[in-house]
Parts: sequence; C-alpha cells; structure tokens
Amino acid sequence: MNAPWKPGATGTRDAFAAFICDEAALDVLRPVVIEMGWQPEKCNKGGLRNAVQSLSITASPNILMVDLSESGDPLNDINGLAEVCEPGTVVIAVGQVNDVRLYRDLLASGIHDYLLKPLSPGQVRDSLVQAQAIFAAPKHSDPSTARKHISTAVVGTRGGVGASTLATSLAWLFSSDHKLPTALLDLDVHFGTGALALDLEPGRGLTDAIENPSRIDGLFIERAMIRANDNLAILSAEAPISAPLMTDGSAFVQLEEEFRQAFEMTVVDLPRNMLINFPHLLADVNVVLVVTEMTLASARDAIRILSWLKTNAAHARPLVVANKVQAGVSEISRADFEASIERKIDFTIPYDIKAAANAAKLGQTFADANRSSKAGSTIQDLASAIIGVGDEDLSEVRPVAKKSLLGKFDLKSMLAKKPSAASKISSDA
Ligand SMILES: Nc1ncnc2c1ncn2[C@@H]1O[C@H](COP(=O)(O)OP(=O)(O)OP(=O)(O)O)[C@@H](O)[C@H]1O
Ligand SMILES: [Mg+2]
Repeated sequence: MNAPWKPGATGTRDAFAAFICDEAALDVLRPVVIEMGWQPEKCNKGGLRNAVQSLSITASPNILMVDLSESGDPLNDINGLAEVCEPGTVVIAVGQVNDVRLYRDLLASGIHDYLLKPLSPGQVRDSLVQAQAIFAAPKHSDPSTARKHISTAVVGTRGGVGASTLATSLAWLFSSDHKLPTALLDLDVHFGTGALALDLEPGRGLTDAIENPSRIDGLFIERAMIRANDNLAILSAEAPISAPLMTDGSAFVQLEEEFRQAFEMTVVDLPRNMLINFPHLLADVNVVLVVTEMTLASARDAIRILSWLKTNAAHARPLVVANKVQAGVSEISRADFEASIERKIDFTIPYDIKAAANAAKLGQTFADANRSSKAGSTIQDLASAIIGVGDEDLSEVRPVAKKSLLGKFDLKSMLAKKPSAASKISSDA
C-alpha cells in the first residue's frame, strides 16, 4: 500500500491490526497473533469498511489483516484502504471468494497476500511471518535509502501522433545522455516499434511474460530484456496478428514493479486501448506524457484522456506534448487548442520529416539521430524536465489552468459547421 504520509503518524504505529467479519476466523487468528507477540485485542470484529473508518483517524499498523467478505466490490474498496494506509503497510486480505483473477488483481493493487476462508492456523502463521519479513526488509524500514525511480507512461491522443517516437527517444536520452539505468516497456504488443526504432529484434521476452506472469522476477527480466546500450534494456514484442492479446494485465503490473527495483527510469509506451483495459497500469506511474497533434480529434481525446487521468491517476504528473507541429498549417491553432483542453501545452515539437527519415535511415531513435535539430533539442529538454520531476514532490499534482469559457466557445464556434463533432468536445471522459 502506498498512500501519502499522515504527518506525525510515524513511530506510533502498531505492529499489527486485523478487521475480521466472523468469530470463527477471529478464533483461529487470535492464538497465532499471541504467538507472534502481538496484542490479541488488535483483532477487531468488522470488515474492510471498519478498517477504512478506523485508519482514517489513526495511524495504520505495520501489518494489517482485513476481511473482504462483506465487500461488494473488493478491488474498489481496497483503493479506499490505500488512501488511509501509510506507505509500507503490509496488507493481508481475507475472503471467501476462490477466484484466481481476484487474487491476481488484489496482488496487483498492492495487497501482500490473500487468505481463503475458512482460515487455518498454519496458513495464517505462514502469511504473518512472511509479512513481518517483508515489513522488516530495508526498502520498507528505511525509506530514505529507497532508490529514486521515475516511471513515465507515454500515451498518444490518436494513432500516429508520435508517442512511440517519443518513448524510444526519451528512453535513449535517459540511458545514454543521463547515464540512468532505464527500462523501455513497449505495450503495443502486436504493432510496437520500440525494438524497430533501435534496430533490434524484439525477442520473446514480453510474450513469455504475458504467458507466464508468475515467472516474472529479477532474474527473468535480466534474461528476457534486450540490451540497447549499457544502460538501456527493452521489453517488447511483435506478437502474431492472428493471436489476440490474452492477459488480465497482471504481467504488466508485475513487470513495472520489477523495473522499479532494477532500474532508475521506466518508460512505458502505452497505447490508448491499454489504458482503457488495464487502468491499474498507471497506479505507480509518476509522469504521463499526453502526446497530441493539433487536430480536432486530438483535442477531443486530449480532453478525455486528461480528464481520465485526473480521476484515475491524480498522483501522476501529466505533461502535454504537441508533436508534428507545423506553423501556420495546423487544423487548430495553439491558442484554440489550449483553450479547449483548459491548460497549456508543455512542449511543442515541430514536424520534421527530414529528421524522421534520418532516424529511420540510421536505425537510431529520433532524438539520437537529430541532436542539433529543433525537434531533437526539444526532446532533450523534455527528458531533462522529466528527470527534474523526480527532484520535486512526485505526488504533487500539476495545477490545472483556469477554465477559459471564451476559449472553449471560440473553438466550438470555429467548428460551427460541424455541430456534431463540436458537441462531442466535452470534458466527460
Ligand atoms: N516530429 C515529427 N516530425 C515528423 N515525423 C514524425 C515526428 N514524430 C514522429 N514522426 C513520424 O510519425 C510516424 C508515427 O510515429 P509513431 O509510430 O511514433 O506514432 P505513434 O503515436 O506511436 O503511432 P501508433 O498509434 O501507431 O502507436 C513515424 O513514422 C515517425 O517517424
Ligand atoms: Mg506507437
């Protein structure tokens, strides 16, 4: 669990607390808790809702056991719990639903373990001992030694806007110019160009990870990832287009978690459909690049994606990057575009077909092949800005620009001849 710190709560945390719905389970739990040296009165009667209520006013314990039996929507309710738990709290869920998918989703949402009722003393003991070991591990007991990690997701508002061009370029710059160990995860599983842009074969790594999420660990990523330079490893696929994507997304979440341990930067090339199907992919992402073109359709979808991010990934810093910008020949002017998305464009990269051709010819990323061009230097600035985000408070959400009703009106009136399209421009994602 990874919720914001509650000031002053450190040092007053209990070793353990449980919120369990039924007496039978409490009867199994209490003797084991005494055996562990903890107070049995911390085994409360009640479920997830009581846990959230109680922890919203007190410090969360180091290890928390919580019963999901009375929760209608466990995954959603777990998110509520995350908001009231201190970072590092090891959460063990208990429930009566025997469903592998739920189990995986719970693990992906940060739960340490899921115990199926009826509880047995052996099962409870094993889980608590393991939770205690995890809590005591250095990364949890001393956050100051935790390695800095910035995870950046790159999402295009429309197809072909240059999201992959930016993802590969940034990964290259982080790894070669800034010498930061970097992972590039290309989640365009069928049509990805992450490997192609670096003149590499994608290999089977990502396909293996999707097929066997349980095998993903440090050793797996070491073997499965393709090295692009001393500091850059990539994981991508060119899955056969006859094979539909068969995954519940748990492999991707697990990969992100392993990257967090093994690298300092992660860049995820995240196609829009993946965002819709696997929203939890953004749970630990720090920066989201919303790559857009200056078109009507891109404006509509920039609005929808920014609104989605605000609701579903408020912890992540959105940066709007306009790519392929041609002065004077845009479908929508910069002013109208900014008015309609109700915020500024953070970076503007010019349309530069020579630069694109040069990158293709050299088998290098766009930014690497065109260092002295305007487009290349803007991407360098973007890379530095993302690294700079790591020095700020990553949880700080960028302030949204003031609403400009006039600007919105302007764009709509400009599109008056297309009322059906204009009416779709709304911030409802
Ligand atoms: N600033 C630019 N100027 C000119 N061409 C560009 C620019 N940025 C990207 N391109 C070119 O646009 C094409 C599409 O880029 P890219 O594959 O990165 O887009 P994408 O958003 O990832 O597309 P998809 O939706 O297929 O994933 C590529 O051929 C790339 O070289
Ligand atoms: Mg792409």
